[in-house]
Amino acid sequence: TVADMQGMKQGKLRLAVISTAKYIIPRLLGPFCQRYPGIDVSLTVTNHEKVVERLRHNLDDLYIPSQIPEGLDVTCRTFLENPLVVLASRNHPLAKIKQVRLEQLNGQDFIMREVGSGTRQAVEKLLEEHGIEIRVRLELGSNEAIKQAVAGGLGVSVLSHHCLALEGETGQIVVLNVEQFPIRRHWNLVYPRGKQLSIVANTFYEYLLTEGRQVLQDTAVCAPS
Ligand code: PGA
Repeated sequence: TVADMQGMKQGKLRLAVISTAKYIIPRLLGPFCQRYPGIDVSLTVTNHEKVVERLRHNLDDLYIPSQIPEGLDVTCRTFLENPLVVLASRNHPLAKIKQVRLEQLNGQDFIMREVGSGTRQAVEKLLEEHGIEIRVRLELGSNEAIKQAVAGGLGVSVLSHHCLALEGETGQIVVLNVEQFPIRRHWNLVYPRGKQLSIVANTFYEYLLTEGRQVLQDTAVCAPS
């Protein structure tokens, strides 16, 4: 029976994901773990660089990094959109402007993720390409803490739109409409090429790419169209 098949799926599932995926993966684990009560999960949430490090050392079953560094031999599937947006406090002068030009970010007080963050890499690349110089007032290793700092008026920041999950734009924090934004990125579902996935890992992999996307669509998280 189906129940028997599900009961046979037992063991540990090890995942390592970038910080912004923490808004998504735990939610998807809910229905999955209900269906397979024999599966226990260990979820490591960290930044891009550390996820890639874990991948190099084959510490987990599946990984969600941002851009895959060249030279890594992996199987990679695009999973979901992960757009990066500019956030500011509602009272920020730029919040009153309908269409902010990129140059208007010049000289702005900025809150930046730590070195090793994929979000940071993407922001720095864009600003550098356009010769924009911001003033980093604060470096922080946590998206949540950055949101608090933005709400507190410390400056603007760029984070994944998913960081607004559940609460959305709270009224305190707004998404600025800045030229060149959102930066379009994706989460990738990755494992070392040729690695034989465990039954448990393979089950979760298939679940994410099929039903997982559906769950997110139903809960209005931006899934690929
Ligand atoms: P980060 O990754 O947590 O390393 O910033 C998120 C991303 O690259 O989108």
